Amino acid sequence: MAGEIPPFQLLDIYKGGFFMSEVLENIKSRRSVKKYKPDMVPREIIEQIVEAGTYAPTGMNKQSPIILAVTKKEIRDQLSGLNAKILGMDGDPFYGAPVVLVVLAKKESNTRVYDGSLVMENLMLAAHNLGIGSCWIHRAKEEFELPEGKELLRSLGIEGEYEGIGHCILGYADGEIKKAAPRKENWVYFVE
Ligand SMILES: Cc1cc2nc3c(=O)[nH]c(=O)nc-3n(C[C@H](O)[C@H](O)[C@H](O)COP(=O)(O)O)c2cc1C
Repeated sequence: MAGEIPPFQLLDIYKGGFFMSEVLENIKSRRSVKKYKPDMVPREIIEQIVEAGTYAPTGMNKQSPIILAVTKKEIRDQLSGLNAKILGMDGDPFYGAPVVLVVLAKKESNTRVYDGSLVMENLMLAAHNLGIGSCWIHRAKEEFELPEGKELLRSLGIEGEYEGIGHCILGYADGEIKKAAPRKENWVYFVE
């Protein structure tokens, strides 16, 4: 079958003389969005994004993380306030994004930070693929060590000890999305 395109390549898009897979293109074009329109993201899009999060690999497949998909303005604003306080700033560390996906992971898992971080990347890539802007916002660990953070988990009926890993904020980008900064030299060492 010389010369025939293998079936998997039929899914690829043709880019400037190369076949570049949509997955690779999605990874390379994702950027952290730091200004959002106030418009809410439809529930069915959020569902697709969080589902992608649940398919992240986890140590021993224990699936230690959980995701809080926060669209309720009162809670979104409460988290923003706590985050700002931890950071010691005024203003909204969530850049006006209407949706906050909080990733936490079971404290008993020794791979919790790795598991949760992979969930975060899946969320950000899925969002980008669906035309939704995102950004990792830090300080979830400190937030869920506070009584207010613990109370939120309790109010949702979440039992057990969880560590905050990150917030993946979501929304429609307000403005142009910049290209990635040039990659530093010596990122990769081939050992062949
Ligand atoms: C662990 C981690 C924590 C981050 N925390 C924040 C944050 O608190 N606030 C923020 O504006 N961006 C945060 N970012 C986003 C980075 O600023 C962003 O990823 C980086 O500038 C590279 O830009 P890019 O994502 O567009 O490639 C965080 C990213 C990571 C991976």
